[in-house]
Amino acid sequence: MRILGIETSCDETGIAIYDSEAGLIGHSLFSQIDLHTAYGGVVPELASRDHVRRILPLIQETLDKSGSTLSDLDAIAYTAGPGLMGALLVGTAVGRSLAYSLSIPAVGVHHMEAHLLAPMLEESVPDYPFLALLVSGGHTLLVKVVDFGVYEMLGESVDDAAGEAFDKTAKLLGLPYPGGPHLSALAEKGDSKRFRFPRPMTDRPGLDFSFSGLKTYALNTVTSESNDEQTRADIARAFVDAVVDTFVIKCRRAIEQTGIKQLVVAGGVSANTQLREGLQGLMRQVSGEVFFPKLEFCTDNGAMIAYAGYLRLQAGQKEQMQFQAKPRWSITEL
Ligand code: KG4
Ligand code: ZN
Repeated sequence: MRILGIETSCDETGIAIYDSEAGLIGHSLFSQIDLHTAYGGVVPELASRDHVRRILPLIQETLDKSGSTLSDLDAIAYTAGPGLMGALLVGTAVGRSLAYSLSIPAVGVHHMEAHLLAPMLEESVPDYPFLALLVSGGHTLLVKVVDFGVYEMLGESVDDAAGEAFDKTAKLLGLPYPGGPHLSALAEKGDSKRFRFPRPMTDRPGLDFSFSGLKTYALNTVTSESNDEQTRADIARAFVDAVVDTFVIKCRRAIEQTGIKQLVVAGGVSANTQLREGLQGLMRQVSGEVFFPKLEFCTDNGAMIAYAGYLRLQAGQKEQMQFQAKPRWSITEL
């Protein structure tokens, strides 16, 4: 079975083809970073228009890369939500109409479920049940994955998502959009001992997160200190240390609470070097195992959509003729 995956939930047009025998046989990505940089963040209307421009040439490019034609496709998977409404509608409309014209099934995929499954494209994969820490620009979720499609929410962010906190803190340190990777690089040059930021919501029971206070903490530190390069690096370091420590504390708590020692970490922020090191250290300590997607599949991509769509079709998911893009959609509703 050959399935085309289409991702257009935010600022990346991602297309891929997953083959049930051969695995991932082609993928392409167009990132809109240059388009949004001037505005310091994603402009939804510009994002939608750019998806319209890119999507068909990118589908053709991916078919060519994989040595396939449209008639080789057995199904189409597209991101149905959560995400930006206009952006989602582009992938939804193209995916559904292309599938209709080819008389093949189309399946709407949950973006966060796709992130969660991205590590399954690697050689070593976890067994169910496992824990999943999903850290993206829009969501921060700690989930117990009982089985494929069976998700119990253990904790989530009560305010900013982890990626959002990275991006906002990066912005106030004068770094370009999207700030996550830039902030991480700057933190590498920083001194861990100079500033200590709080570890939000770790002093009380529970597995929820809060990151908006860290951004304010960073802002207050920026305002009260001299604005030299080393100070900015030290602030970046304090921010990253606080985020990583918070995730380590909460993941340790989730492991103790559930007795599950396999942890999947996915979503854009799972590309973060310091976070990867922190969680690898934790899983060594508890004699557990941690699984990440490969770097290019941490951030948004079509491969995870094609793969999640494949699993959904295997599980018998069928779509009605009417369809809906869902900007807000909890993973626990699946
Ligand atoms: O999953 P993703 O591509 O899009 C959403 O579903 O939101 O995540 C994007 C987020 C952005 O906030 C970006 O700054 C962050 O992931 N990110 C990182 C790194 N790479 C991407 N944050 C920290 N360190 C990184 N290396
Ligand atoms: Zn994402």
